[in-house]
Amino acid sequence: MTTASSPATLTDEVVFDLRYARSHDDLWSMLDELYGENPGFDAFRERLDAALRAGWAARPADLKRLDLRRDLEPDWFQRPGMNGYVFYIDRFAGDLNGVIDKLDYLADLGITYVHFMPCLKPREGDSDGGYSVQDYRAINPAYGDMADFEAATAAARARGMSVCIDFVLNHTAKEHDWAQKARAGDPTYLDYYLTFEDDTLPKAYEDTLIEIFPDNAPGSFTYYDDMQRWVWTTFNEHQWDLNWSNPQVFVEMLEVMLFLANRGVEVLRLDAVAFLWKRIGTRCQSEPECHMLLQALRAACRIAAPAVIHLEEAIVGPAEMLPYLGRGKHDGKEGNLAYHNSLMVQFWSALAARDTRLLTHVMATHFPPVLTNATYATYLRCHDDIGWAVTDEDAAAVGLGGPQHRAFLSKFYEGIYPGSFSRGALFQYNPETGDKRISGSCASLAGLEAGLDAGDAAGVTDAIDRILMGHALIASYGGIPLIYMGDEIGLLNDYGYVNHPAQAHDSRWLHRPRMDWDTAQAARQGDDSPAGRLRAGLRHILARRAATSEFHASHAIEILNTGNAALFAFARRAPTGSVVCLFNFTDTWQNMPGDWAIQHGAHALHDALSDAPVLDAQGAIALPPHARVWIR
Ligand code: GLC
Repeated sequence: MTTASSPATLTDEVVFDLRYARSHDDLWSMLDELYGENPGFDAFRERLDAALRAGWAARPADLKRLDLRRDLEPDWFQRPGMNGYVFYIDRFAGDLNGVIDKLDYLADLGITYVHFMPCLKPREGDSDGGYSVQDYRAINPAYGDMADFEAATAAARARGMSVCIDFVLNHTAKEHDWAQKARAGDPTYLDYYLTFEDDTLPKAYEDTLIEIFPDNAPGSFTYYDDMQRWVWTTFNEHQWDLNWSNPQVFVEMLEVMLFLANRGVEVLRLDAVAFLWKRIGTRCQSEPECHMLLQALRAACRIAAPAVIHLEEAIVGPAEMLPYLGRGKHDGKEGNLAYHNSLMVQFWSALAARDTRLLTHVMATHFPPVLTNATYATYLRCHDDIGWAVTDEDAAAVGLGGPQHRAFLSKFYEGIYPGSFSRGALFQYNPETGDKRISGSCASLAGLEAGLDAGDAAGVTDAIDRILMGHALIASYGGIPLIYMGDEIGLLNDYGYVNHPAQAHDSRWLHRPRMDWDTAQAARQGDDSPAGRLRAGLRHILARRAATSEFHASHAIEILNTGNAALFAFARRAPTGSVVCLFNFTDTWQNMPGDWAIQHGAHALHDALSDAPVLDAQGAIALPPHARVWIR
């Protein structure tokens, strides 16, 4: 017989203890190493334990049920039915109640994951698009309140959609309560940030730091007269970097994390994680301690809110990005998702060059066939700029000069390279490094704006095909494809941002337009406008992806050599068979022999995307401009 106190009865406490036992070492091995020498370590240990228990105790019953479900289906986020959509709440739907009304629209598109762009209470005025958070426990009042937020996450959950929100770990707004106290001189809170009485250390750090916003926020430190101190501000002046070497910061942020988890968030996008740990003489990016902190945060979630996964935002080169998905001792224990920035950059690079060799080289050389308990967030566009993260070594491997190729890409997407179809704008030109990043909406970068302006029907069709080819690529590569708001109807650049004082300095607002619901509704009715064609095409891609079991993220990817620079190819290897995916990056017809696909594992020569045979009468796979096929 079992009694209430017997471990055989699955009380909430027993479940918690089992999960704590599961992740105990993943958590404490990191924290011991990070903070073990700290004189307050025992008190920290107690507070952290209490925070985990309190988080679990406060967790609503329906989320505890979801926890159990995710424990039973740990691959839920790797399944091909996962399709993401990313939007600013105000620009998409006005406010949180508006979002609930739009869930139908998203469900109809095939969306199962919705990223509400920064929605916690930001500082007033310029808040870096909401990434300057004043209060992590309150919702941006322009969007609603916490009750509205919980209603929105519950409504999404009821429809089988997981809500993702941003959790800015690296910095708070200088208006955050902690920062205000620090500014007033409270020593406890001064230790939450990185402040310096004189500029000796800031100067020493700056020797090796890389500027993030060289144009409008040069340098990484800000001097405050009233404090008589320098404050570490990697991004904007109003974003104060937190001092993660202080265990109090860890525990406070962990409490925030569990608070947000308990509001119904299922994916936490951990913002700017590369910057968490500072070490003199380095770029202060991706230091080993970043991964230790992230593993510890991951383990804490697995203990007190296991339905929640982590998306780590590290926009860095391939070798530096992979560890955010857990490499070496962190294998299977760090981020569940990380942005595949390289795939995004290489997509645009190959499109401009009409040459896939660099794309093929980078994907084949730097990325493993499978990841443990993790996958990519794949995307073509997001709310940020595109930085040409192409290394000189990779460029050289395919006979290109790194600086020349990067300069070509900037010119091409700015639209000033002869023959360019793109309409983009520069972001944060750094004359010292020659680095020129690019802003612009997916459609404008892909040629839709230029095609429409010129009344060029063929140009418009090319642009539509480029966009659909890109989406077919991110839907099959492995990982969760993230559709950026409005890309499904080809929203163009929004040039109006220059009239808003809080935005005018930041060209990223060019590609953060308001949703155009008239166009979206007409597209949904199936009109044959560019928007209608894009939406139908994208909806089809997402539906076919969901039906293609080989695209489960746990199935290996193998990059293939086509011997034709126009084509990019890979195979997804599932126990049930392979799918060979082929993409034509040029504006001209290409051919591949059917035998080539068979050699690489295709068996039926049937395109899972168009649901049609792929061979023409001559036994070749004929690929029109920007073709995309998923050959079984
Ligand atoms: C991330 C965000 C970006 C923001 C930065 C600072 O990179 O994507 O928009 O400016 O973090 O929070």
